[in-house]
Parts: sequence; C-alpha cells; structure tokens
Amino acid sequence: EKGGFASFMDKEIHDQPQAVADTLLGRMDADGKLTLDEIHVDETILKSIDKMIVIACGTAAYAGQVAKYTIEHWCRIPVEVELAHEFRYRDPVVNEKTLVVAVSQSGETMDTIMAVRHARQQGAKVVAICNTYGSTIPRESDAALYTHAGPEVAVASTKAFLSQIVACYLLGLYLAQLRGNKFTDEVRVILDELQQIPEKIEKVLQLKEQVEQLARSVQNTQSVLFLGRHVGYPVALEGALKLKELAYIHAEGFAAGELKHGPIALIEDGQLVFIIVPSREGRDSLHAKVISNIQEVRARGANTIVIAEEGDEAVKEYASEVFYVPQTPTLLAPLLTTIPLQFFAMELATMKGLDVDQPRNLAKSVTVE
Ligand code: M6R
Repeated sequence: EKGGFASFMDKEIHDQPQAVADTLLGRMDADGKLTLDEIHVDETILKSIDKMIVIACGTAAYAGQVAKYTIEHWCRIPVEVELAHEFRYRDPVVNEKTLVVAVSQSGETMDTIMAVRHARQQGAKVVAICNTYGSTIPRESDAALYTHAGPEVAVASTKAFLSQIVACYLLGLYLAQLRGNKFTDEVRVILDELQQIPEKIEKVLQLKEQVEQLARSVQNTQSVLFLGRHVGYPVALEGALKLKELAYIHAEGFAAGELKHGPIALIEDGQLVFIIVPSREGRDSLHAKVISNIQEVRARGANTIVIAEEGDEAVKEYASEVFYVPQTPTLLAPLLTTIPLQFFAMELATMKGLDVDQPRNLAKSVTVE
C-alpha cells in the first residue's frame, strides 16, 4: 500500500506531482478557458459577491492564506481567512454577497462543519474545497470543488495541502474570468504555468537526500524558526506546523517583516532558521527585503537554511545552506517551496524514531469540536 516507501507520508509527498496534475485535469476547455462545472452557484451571484471568507483549520487554513494573496490579486475581491472555530463563535459580517470557501481534506472536521452551518444561516453561499467525495462539508455546502489528491492516510497533510492550493487558484482564476476580460491574459499565463508545476515538483522531490543530510546534522535541535513573506508566509507557518506535529520540536513561523517587532530577540548562536525567499520577479523590492532579513538573523549567529529559486545567487552570501527550487511565478511558488519543509519534518521525525504517519495525540480527522 505504501508503494515501496517507508511511510504513507513519504509516499504522499511523492504523490504530489500526480495530485496537482489530477486536480487540474478536465477543468479547462480546448481554448484554455476554465470551466468549473461543479460550481453551480448562479453566475450572477458569483459576479456580485463583494467579499470572500475562507474558513478552515490547520494546514487547510494555510492553503486559505495562500488563496488570500492570489485571489485578491486576480479578482480584486477582499478575502479574509479565518480559523473555522474562531469564525463560528463570533458575529462575523456575512451576507448574501459573501462567498464563503470551506477548505477541508476530510470534509468531516467538526469545527469547519459548524462554521459552514453558521455562514449559511446568515445567507452566505458556501463553496467547499474538499478531498473526500460525499463527505459532510461538501454535502452541506452550495457547491463543491474537489481536490483530486487521492486518499491521504498520513495524519500530516501533504498532497492534500498542495491540491487545496491548486483548487483555490482555480476558484480565483475562475472568478477573475467571470469578472471580465482584463484578467484574461494573466489567467492564461498562470494556467499555462500551472500545467508545468507537476514536472517542477518532480525536480523538488530530488532534494530529499540533501534535506536528509541537513536533518542528520541538526537532529538534536530544540527549536526551529521559519520566516517568509507574502505567499512565503503561509509556507513558513506550514513548515512549523509539520515540525511540531511530526518531530515534536518547538517551531514557529513568522512573517519575516515581524522579526524586528519581537521575534529577533530569539536569535542566538546556532538557532536554526528557515527562510523562504520570494522570486526576483516584479513585486516591489520583496526579494531584497527578504535577503536583508536573512542577513539580520545571520549576523546574530543563526544557522540560515534558505529556500530560493534556481539562479538566485544573491542568497548565497548569507545562507548556511540553500535549497533551490525551479523558477515559477511568485504566486505559484508555495507548490514548490513547501516540499523541502515536508521532507525536513519527516526526516527529523524518522531520525528520532517516531511514527511519522501517526504522531501522538493527533487524529487524521478531528470530528469533535
Ligand atoms: O480534514 P481537514 O483538512 O479539515 O483537517 C484540517 C486539519 O485538522 C489538518 O490540516 C491538520 O492541521 C493536519 N494534521 C496538518 O498536517
């Protein structure tokens, strides 16, 4: 069942090219137009929405954070991302013009189910992004956009996460397409780039050995920090969550811009810090900003592990080690930069003799509130 891999998690990490390809499959017509037939919410309603709220928990909520950056950029619709259990117990401003997107691998997460009910009671339309056919969340939503990652067995989410991000892109691009021609060119470019992602993931998978060596050299580490900006920020959060959940190591993800507002006080000699570096393409001076963040922590003795795009020589000066991933548009980068972090958590857990598929105290789907 594990297909020759040591664990389900290892297999599922390697399933990611297929999971992404399958989630993209059949969602475009011959002219490259997106056809999300599953979204049978009236087009007039979809055109009139003035706010989106993504509700989810854990890793699925990080996929939602990636969605925020991308959908706001493509659609110019404000997107909020909220943990389902927080959304449920407050008085959110939701009405018929709000599109709520519930993201869940299992479709059975009780916190998310309750939030879906809460949103619908207030008149919002709910689209579920889900990996499990016929589960509760898609059944209770107005429409479902399925991720086609296949069954995910390991408690730690990997291929479902990447597929959720892809589904969020598709939803955002579809809404952009619905909302007018001026998006068409960019939609085309991104769709084309998305098709190339599975092949690029294959390349990232080849970093496994390099990650394993790194894990071996830091196996007694007590604390790891992850820094990212823009779409790299949710990737940093995901890297930290994977490490807590699998290797039981204290880990935190930060938006790199927050460093000087507090977290930099944590940096001392030998502190392991992962930094997710954005591409050098456009986007103001974000790349330069992250380079100076690396410099800041390095100057205080941090062991800086950098994830950057191929060809980015500028990162080398301040990096203890660099993991290079293929170039892709910034907004799509999480589909690549997450993978070394998945490997890292898995390798450290393995070295500590832990059960990577079934970490302590956790369940694959959390069916209680
Ligand atoms: O099934 P769901 O996507 O609703 O699950 C949400 C979270 O419980 C889940 O992503 C959890 O955080 C994972 N164990 C993370 O690896």
